[in-house]
Amino acid sequence: MKVTTSGFLETGNIMVIPVFEGCNKAPNNATTNLNRSASIALKSAFASDSFTGKLGESLSIWTKECQIILLGVGEKNDLTTKKSRDTGAKCFASLSKNHGTKIVIRYTTGWNVKNMAAFAEGMILRDYSFDKYQKKEDDKKGPWSLMCQTIERHQDALNSAVNRAYEIATGVHLARDLGNEPANKLYPEEFGKRALEWSKDKQNVEVEVWNYARLKEEGMYGLIEVGKGSIHKPCMVFFRLNPSANKDSEVPCIVGKGITFDSGGISIKGSAGMDEMKLDMHGSATVFGLFQALHATGYEGRINGITCMAENMPSAEAYRPGDVINTYSGKTIEVLNTDAEGRNVLADGLWKASELKPSYIIDLATLTGSIVVALGHEATGLFSNNKALSGKIQAAGDEVDEISWPMPLLPAFEKQMTSSKIADVRNQGKGRWGGASQAAGFLKQFVQEREDKEGKKSQIPWAHLDIAGTAGIWGGETNVTVGHGATGVQVRALHCLITQK
Ligand code: BES
Ligand code: ZN
Ligand code: ZN
Repeated sequence: MKVTTSGFLETGNIMVIPVFEGCNKAPNNATTNLNRSASIALKSAFASDSFTGKLGESLSIWTKECQIILLGVGEKNDLTTKKSRDTGAKCFASLSKNHGTKIVIRYTTGWNVKNMAAFAEGMILRDYSFDKYQKKEDDKKGPWSLMCQTIERHQDALNSAVNRAYEIATGVHLARDLGNEPANKLYPEEFGKRALEWSKDKQNVEVEVWNYARLKEEGMYGLIEVGKGSIHKPCMVFFRLNPSANKDSEVPCIVGKGITFDSGGISIKGSAGMDEMKLDMHGSATVFGLFQALHATGYEGRINGITCMAENMPSAEAYRPGDVINTYSGKTIEVLNTDAEGRNVLADGLWKASELKPSYIIDLATLTGSIVVALGHEATGLFSNNKALSGKIQAAGDEVDEISWPMPLLPAFEKQMTSSKIADVRNQGKGRWGGASQAAGFLKQFVQEREDKEGKKSQIPWAHLDIAGTAGIWGGETNVTVGHGATGVQVRALHCLITQK
């Protein structure tokens, strides 16, 4: 999609006019450059009682030159970026290219830049489909173009806001692409290959892949044990943006769970919905997408990413319940359930992240069914050992409407997870209650401590985002910026967190 900003010039093929409730007269700029009959039709639509501007209302007017869509966005003072973005996304989903591909949005009286940009962002985010494996009619109609029209005073600010939204969306769409790929096409080595390819033409990016042999040399048996049952062997992928910038300072490290398929392993899952487990690498997809978004927006700071890639399969070579894993940290894990595999791979990822002088560590993982029970598809579960970090993540999520909801990291859960009779840590709690908190209590064991200048030891600031409920939708109403499948969740929120001053 090509995105531009201008005054009230062209009328496009499809003219979208978002309207506040109670506006019963065509605002000044609405009719600019429309011919007389279209102008009259538009004015009478504004004046009629059949369109009042209530949130969700829409009215189409067919004129000779363009389709005009009036969209209600509700009371002006109640308008939020979320309502604005969602209205833009819903509208975009209803459009057809049959009458041309030029969309014009006319923001008339009363619109501020933030809400205008969010509306356009909704359209940009929704302009996504995963159809590479479908036979396509030749798309002779070409891509959409989007022209955002506003008064001169707002044009520069709107232009940069919309361009930034577009750049960030390239990262969201990349994360969705990776999430949507089936597991026979995207397995650990293939993810590594795509990361290497992505880095090739980018000067300020480094990607390094640790293959199976290297993982063995390093003693990363958290990752190895989970992945060894598959013919597609595990790997760890390192992302480095601006590796030579502020070399000695501490920088964030973002870690992703990357199970390209989670069958459950020997503790095999039921068959209902098992196909959805191709999405169990969305944590890693978000890390990759985030790096794309940061690169596209020209972020100049240094940042590290680690993705822990494995396929969890049952086989003669698979790990089993009862096994003990020697992780990279030196701590051992008693495996009670091979389906609690995400935490095992993250154990190595988090320990490694701790070695990279991180200012903080954030991990992203489709980790537990429990978080879906707790928060549904509405919010990502946020666990943290650090109030300041947790507050910033929550604020960034609120800013871009990708909610993270704080969940407790209680000592009792840590105690449960460290009460194995034969190893340091167990990979399953003692019952099903608080499953997401149990998992977080497990992960905490693999975040290193460090000393401050006074020699006082404390754990590195760390947050765990359980995205099991927010990473994908299979026909739901909860995230209208996505039609189907992977959502690319947390790319926008983490981009906001990292780039804010
Ligand atoms: N990948 C799943 C969690 C999941 C569930 C993601 C639903 C997305 C949607 C994870 O590896 C898993 O199977 N977790 C188990 C852990 C249990 C065996 C301790 C769970 O949550 O049931
Ligand atoms: Zn699992
Ligand atoms: Zn899993």
